Amino acid sequence: MSEEKKELSQAEKICMKMDKIGKKILIMSGKGGVGKTTVTVNLANALTEAGFKVGVLDTDIHGPNIAKMFGREGELLNQDVSTGEILPVITDNGIKLISLSFALQDPTQAVVFRGPLKLSVIKQFLADVQWGTLDYLLIDSPPGTGDEQLAVCQNIPALTGAIIVTTPQSVAILDAQKSVSFAREVKLNIIGVIENMSYLVCPHCNEKIHIFGKDGGKKLCTDMGITLLGSIPMEPALEETEDNGENWIKKGESVSGTAFREIAAFIEGTVKPTCSADIGYIPQKDDCTPSSCASCTENCPSRKKG
Ligand SMILES: Nc1ncnc2c1ncn2[C@@H]1O[C@H](COP(=O)(O)OP(=O)(O)OP(=O)(O)O)[C@@H](O)[C@H]1O
Ligand SMILES: [Mg+2]
Repeated sequence: MSEEKKELSQAEKICMKMDKIGKKILIMSGKGGVGKTTVTVNLANALTEAGFKVGVLDTDIHGPNIAKMFGREGELLNQDVSTGEILPVITDNGIKLISLSFALQDPTQAVVFRGPLKLSVIKQFLADVQWGTLDYLLIDSPPGTGDEQLAVCQNIPALTGAIIVTTPQSVAILDAQKSVSFAREVKLNIIGVIENMSYLVCPHCNEKIHIFGKDGGKKLCTDMGITLLGSIPMEPALEETEDNGENWIKKGESVSGTAFREIAAFIEGTVKPTCSADIGYIPQKDDCTPSSCASCTENCPSRKKG
């Protein structure tokens, strides 16, 4: 009797793809416009500069900005004809990008999707994209704790953790607390908080101006027992660079660039890669070998000997 190869379920495909990626990190915030996409893009560039292989998944279905901020607006996704997999758009420095905007002919077109459709798009991006072996997958998200964040948390087995982005003012902090409670509810490790737009350096007198108040992020972290990963100042040139789709990290020394590099180094030094076997999810996969799994450790129950 011939042995037919079993068709993998979508969950199994996701599991196998995600196990080839060391650290899968969700970037989230309670409030809109606080800098999630900025953090995603700059951390991706800082990690790439440090020699890591990085992918970025844009789960912001209604307001995707990843393509624009990486300067790849207008590009369309292709398919690998031999495997049927979706090929990510790859930046000049090698970052693999996936966003629904790469499937739209017109970047101004509104995407009118209800929850189930968003869930199915995100699952397809996890299961059917040729991600390959990566050190990091950074997952940008829209504001809040809705369908997109749940889709990520419920479908990536052993999601490594979340980075919560906030600005210092109390409305943003209040909303950031909701992101913290969401992460705790779904048992997602909180890697830490990044306070963005912490201050502006006056171009005339070089004094720091705390436009949105001072130390809101620090207080949030103290009150909720979370790590403050860093504070990023407002830098008009950063905004302009992002608008032009250029790499801010590569542009040279800046306070925010240094902060992003330090945060990237801290994450690399303190956050361990995660694998589905860590949580006993679909263990003993047939093709599991140290080279197929980005986070393979000596004591992994799925690891093949020899
Ligand atoms: N530290 C900063 N200095 C200057 N401009 C910034 C900074 N952080 C973010 N911006 C700018 O602020 C705007 C909003 O940032 P961004 O799009 O990253 O926020 P977001 O949280 O992803 O927004 P959304 O909730 O809409 O997805 C962008 O134009 C961005 O370039
Ligand atoms: Mg965004």
